[in-house]
Amino acid sequence: PEPTGLLIIGNRVTQATPDHRNIRLSLVIPTYCESENIQQMIAQLSQMLDRVLRDEYELIIVDDDSPDLTWKTVNDLCWVYPQLRVMRRQHQRGLSTAVIRGWQVANGEILGVIDADLQHPPETLLQLWAEIHKGADLAVASRHVDHGGVSDWSLGRRFLSRGAQVLGLVILPGIVSRVSDPMSGYFLVRREAIADQVLSPIGYKILIEVLAQGHSRWIAEVGYVFQERSEGASKVTWKQYVEYVQHLIRLRLMLWPVQRFLRFGVVGLSGVFVDMTMFYLFRHLGLGLTLSVILSGEIAIVNNFLWNDRWTFADLAHQQRSWGKGFKRFLKFNIVCLTGLVLNAIIVNLLSRGLGMNEYLAKLIAIAIVTFWNFWVNLKLSWRV
Ligand code: GDD
Ligand code: MN
Repeated sequence: PEPTGLLIIGNRVTQATPDHRNIRLSLVIPTYCESENIQQMIAQLSQMLDRVLRDEYELIIVDDDSPDLTWKTVNDLCWVYPQLRVMRRQHQRGLSTAVIRGWQVANGEILGVIDADLQHPPETLLQLWAEIHKGADLAVASRHVDHGGVSDWSLGRRFLSRGAQVLGLVILPGIVSRVSDPMSGYFLVRREAIADQVLSPIGYKILIEVLAQGHSRWIAEVGYVFQERSEGASKVTWKQYVEYVQHLIRLRLMLWPVQRFLRFGVVGLSGVFVDMTMFYLFRHLGLGLTLSVILSGEIAIVNNFLWNDRWTFADLAHQQRSWGKGFKRFLKFNIVCLTGLVLNAIIVNLLSRGLGMNEYLAKLIAIAIVTFWNFWVNLKLSWRV
């Protein structure tokens, strides 16, 4: 049995498997007040997995110091089931973080999660395992594919569940649309697909975090019917809905390259300063107006490129470090900035001539739009993400 009260710091699952035995599957079962269910759950899973994986799996129960002493019940069962481990978390609550804690002490190459209350049918695990065996990085048990469903949910509950999914689709379309049941808490994932990524979910929906922060290329889905709870009660309250929305918003902000964009903006401002200074110098040296504009503009572009390459996009530039590639980035940056200039002129004309807007207001709006344009196209094209 695990030492009790163990608290692991950090929010990454490591790459290495500190294993002395040969564990292939580590299945985490998060529990809070499940002493009436856990015994049967462990019995069913053990019987099934003993047959398929012999001693090459482990069941890791992560209990948040349940007042009904679930952890103690499990601890006593460890004498009967050699593949069973239990962790009692004493200073933290929450389903998703409990799952990550379990994965952090896990030995297996394949990590998984299943509810303790028998609402996730254990047999489905074998199908998930088969999908991983075929090569999937992530195998999700889903209520919304063939052979999937819910037992007898009220219309209101179905509506709430689907509503939450639609909200996810609106806020994080690229992530939530990758699976039919993003709310599922029943799945297997290859350790390497999440290893060394920062996982810091809020609330219940660990799969969304795995989809957003991990890199699973091959995702498989297996249908299952969400069973009714016979013992104990669900821990879901309105708080879990609030946390879900918080989680979505946090991921949204993280996935938008906010910091990069701010840096790009700062560099842009430095460019304005360089441009003005150079323009002033050239004019005082007696150069013509147009020539001064062009020269000072190009010097500002060089300035911006160098700062962006060494700061804003330094991590990306680092991956392609030759002189030739650097020069290619510079040329692309130049071209993108030029298209930005053309776009700028078009927008000002449209807004001021077309809509009769004040010219300076039109120019401000154009600058804002062109800054976004320059940032995005350079990110995708010049530094290529
Ligand atoms: N350690 C820990 N800490 N476990 C928790 C906590 C917690 O704070 N809260 C809940 N759990 C455990 C429960 O004991 C149970 O084993 C599992 O997490 C799911 O909790 P329920 O309260 O039964 O959730 P549900 O029935 O609404 O299930 C929903 O969420 C699941 C997430 O795993 C559905 O959306 C499922 O499809 C989904 O799988
Ligand atoms: Mn449940």
